[in-house]
Amino acid sequence: MAKDKVTAPDLVAMKARGEKITFLTAYDYPSARLLDEAGIDVALVGDSLGMVVLGYENTLSVTMDDMIRHTAAVARGAERALVVGDMPFMSYQVSDEQAVENAGRFMQEAGAQAVKLEGGERVANTVRRIVDAGIPVVGHAGFLPQSVHQFGGVRKKAGKDSEAAAKIKNDAAVLEDAGVSAVVLEAVPADLAGEITEDLTVPTIGIGAGPHCDGQVLVMHDIIGMFDRFVPPFVKQYANLWPEILDAYKSYNEDVKEGRFPEK
Ligand code: KIV
Repeated sequence: MAKDKVTAPDLVAMKARGEKITFLTAYDYPSARLLDEAGIDVALVGDSLGMVVLGYENTLSVTMDDMIRHTAAVARGAERALVVGDMPFMSYQVSDEQAVENAGRFMQEAGAQAVKLEGGERVANTVRRIVDAGIPVVGHAGFLPQSVHQFGGVRKKAGKDSEAAAKIKNDAAVLEDAGVSAVVLEAVPADLAGEITEDLTVPTIGIGAGPHCDGQVLVMHDIIGMFDRFVPPFVKQYANLWPEILDAYKSYNEDVKEGRFPEK
């Protein structure tokens, strides 16, 4: 392990020091190398892979084998960043035994240092079993992309009324009790995310959840302009690579067609 490798306990220590935590998604070797060189703390191999890399409509079609292959590539590129593998739909819901086994595959076959799974109270026992096996877990509360059909749409704001807000608060607290190292809060109102952040000892990592979380996570394709379907409204785009790459491809295509490349 690299000397300065970020570990799961480091995330809790960073929160205690008041140090903000950066997560970014990565899906392959080059994206992991870049993230690592930039000093980003955590490489999340998200099941957003399904949309931004594999072209599916949502995350539901992503398999364990997809995740293992991509997580292994990220682990080969990330020397410092903590590598977190996202457990795909139906890899932890059937039984706790199946969940522990699949979490173990992320560690043994892919070289991840932690896994993430979606849900609050309903997955608390599963989280406990995985943590008991010595595998750090990142929780995920608020909007849950793998339950898109239950939420009735993509990234619906979660926790808008007081009952829903209380449920998310309880989910976060139960996840902390179950032993998670951090909790992703997705599409949660900023004030609610702030309250949860104050209540927990483990860090909250926001996505579309305002500025009060202990850290932030974004999808790499969104911040560099590499996804052609949509950019979520809360995203800050730091580059817009799609048109630049398109121009380069068009120039190459024209050069070959017109005989300008290769030169004599
Ligand atoms: O799959 C993913 O990229 C995620 C983040 C959006 C948190 O779960």
